Amino acid sequence: MQVQWYPGHMTKAKRMMQENIKLIDLIIELLDARVPLSSRNPDIDELGKNKARLIVLNKADLADEAVNEAWISYFQSLEYQTVRIDARNRGNTKSIQDAVMEACREKIERDRKRGILNRPVRAMVVGIPNVGKSTLINSMAGKACAKTGNKPGVTKGKQWIRLNKNVELLDTPGILWPKFEDQKVGLHLAMIGSINDEILNTEELALELLTRIRSFRQGLIGSRYGIDENGSAVELLYRIAKVRGCLKKGEEPDTVKASGIILDDFRSGKIGRISLEHPGNGIYE
Ligand code: G4P
Repeated sequence: MQVQWYPGHMTKAKRMMQENIKLIDLIIELLDARVPLSSRNPDIDELGKNKARLIVLNKADLADEAVNEAWISYFQSLEYQTVRIDARNRGNTKSIQDAVMEACREKIERDRKRGILNRPVRAMVVGIPNVGKSTLINSMAGKACAKTGNKPGVTKGKQWIRLNKNVELLDTPGILWPKFEDQKVGLHLAMIGSINDEILNTEELALELLTRIRSFRQGLIGSRYGIDENGSAVELLYRIAKVRGCLKKGEEPDTVKASGIILDDFRSGKIGRISLEHPGNGIYE
């Protein structure tokens, strides 16, 4: 299944990020803990040359905890300051504030030597649509100041948010990149809900997802839907349609409806905590 999605507002957003990069000390790269490689924008390395970097694995509550730990070690081995969080939980955001200061330690020290005191660190939050940028900023700022929405690509325009005397944040719209070199990247992003579902074949997507979940977390599909999880992915989809009462006229299984249920259940963590990418495996297979 081929997935590409790069609407016009993303080109504009990228230009806005390039224009603002000179104002920035630190890039906070928000990744989805379930797919940390696929959710990394390859353009950020170029954009963020010479900037301090912090990697935040968000939606860690939806990913396998042991795999979260493995990803933290992986990114730390590449010398990135890395934390994992559930952005909806305000208690978690203290760890980011600490990590921001740690990632900018050299800069703060340099400023101090030059006699510049108390200049806030300016950070840019970047991430793909739906990764949780607005949720994180709202949690950190302690009030609803960034718009959140459940449609990929809802955050638009530019906003500076002063968190406290030490940190200012620039929110950026969610952007993808013009071409996914590896088709699995597009698939994984579609699975987590960062690609507009309207352009997707949700049945094919659900079949791919069932295959992955069964291979990574045997038994979860069976117990979620109360079905035998052996057989082909198509057979599983039919069984799920049946037990969930997704039937068309003439009692034929409504596989489109069942696919929607499977995608929603996965995205909201109802099937279980599932990491689709594991360090060492690359982007699966
Ligand atoms: P964006 O700005 O990057 O586009 O993302 P946004 O904050 O709008 O978040 C997208 C969805 O992801 C929201 O759900 C939000 O609640 C959810 N979310 C963000 N961070 C986390 C997290 O760490 N864990 C989990 N489980 N969910 C997270 P929604 O259903 O679209 O909206 P809402 O009804 O929850 O507000």
